[in-house]
Amino acid sequence: MIETERLRLRPWRDADLPAFAKMNADPRVRRFFFALLTREQSDASVAFFRQMYEQDGFCFFAAEMRETSAFIGMIGIQRMNFPLPTVSPPAVEIGWRLQAESWGQGLATEGAQAALQVAFEKFQLPEVVAFTVPANLPSRRVMD
Ligand SMILES: CC(C)(COP(=O)(O)OP(=O)(O)OC[C@H]1O[C@@H](n2cnc3c(N)ncnc32)[C@H](O)[C@@H]1OP(=O)(O)O)[C@@H](O)C(=O)NCCC(=O)NCCS
Repeated sequence: MIETERLRLRPWRDADLPAFAKMNADPRVRRFFFALLTREQSDASVAFFRQMYEQDGFCFFAAEMRETSAFIGMIGIQRMNFPLPTVSPPAVEIGWRLQAESWGQGLATEGAQAALQVAFEKFQLPEVVAFTVPANLPSRRVMD
């Protein structure tokens, strides 16, 4: 678990599944992805995050507000599970996806900075990569 001033990044709970599926079915959230996710696809991605957590001790965590425990999305580090031309598994990537209502508050950046610190200090990773499509300017700003 990772705590920041406003956020808690923690392992997934079954109770997160409906809220995560709701944001994965939101065209705003999926603007730069190929498609919206069905409930089954969303649940399957959480199952994969949990598997990665079991394997490595880190994953794309569930993100919640510390003050209210309200679920807001996912932030974390995880081993890549597909190759790209420039970077391939077992590289560790950093990623973020928040419900639209939680954008514009610096939460993704706050969580990502903490996740990066854990990657380098606790897990002693030599490198963390990030990638997105060129048009995803909000994500590129978080990367910066
Ligand atoms: C990518 C994503 C997480 C970025 O969210 P975000 O809210 O823009 O990013 P941050 O949480 O870092 O917030 C930055 C914004 O909050 C503002 N902000 C407000 N209070 C702030 C604070 N205390 N600290 C920092 N920034 C603050 C910044 O000015 C900035 O606003 P701007 O973009 O209008 O300039 C979000 O767009 C998203 O979930 N997109 C869909 C999924 C996705 O594409 N994921 C990435 C795939 S590669």
